[in-house]
Amino acid sequence: KRVAVLISGSGSNLQALIDSTRDPTKNSAAEIVLVISNKATAYGLERAKQAGICSLVVDHKNYASREEYDRILHEKLLNANIDIVCLAGFMRILSGEFTRNWTGKMINIHPSLLPLFKGANAWKQALNSGVRVTGCTVHFVEEDVDAGGIIVQETVPIKPDDTEESLLERIHTVEHKAYPTALELIAAGRAKLSEDKKVIWC
Ligand code: GRF
Repeated sequence: KRVAVLISGSGSNLQALIDSTRDPTKNSAAEIVLVISNKATAYGLERAKQAGICSLVVDHKNYASREEYDRILHEKLLNANIDIVCLAGFMRILSGEFTRNWTGKMINIHPSLLPLFKGANAWKQALNSGVRVTGCTVHFVEEDVDAGGIIVQETVPIKPDDTEESLLERIHTVEHKAYPTALELIAAGRAKLSEDKKVIWC
């Protein structure tokens, strides 16, 4: 399957996806063929270059509306014959039309155990709430932000002396395991989204 990864920043999840799909021992059903960033300064673009993967900057500032931006994004994905879209720290809310076009073919990673702590700074929300366990979630993307059928979750215990930084670091470590696992499940057709938006396991 031809995969595009959408980023806005450091791209450590992008790196984990590149490494796992290229690991010869894993015989992956996925190949990352395109990286798109809405920010020209995203370090993930450098990672794509290092890996010899085609990358594009599609800066939202050059488009008048969200809909217009998303139409261009959609066009770029179609032009590259993309089968699966992975959102990996892509800091843009996608329009309903775009999301519907990619239903069942677009996944996202979020730094909490959804449906808890949706939105920004999810690990801080978890730390401040007093829960003793958090983690990360890879899920199909739906129109509602941070909602949609859950494919993989990994837990992270919250330690009494955790700071925002130390907790985030441990969440990142499990993200780098969870995202490749989820992508493989989708690419190999072992997890799918049903008509009524439930995950079916094959
Ligand atoms: C991750 O924590 C992910 O859960 C969130 O954005 C962050 C991206 O980090 N959606 P990176 O750019 O992959 O390093």
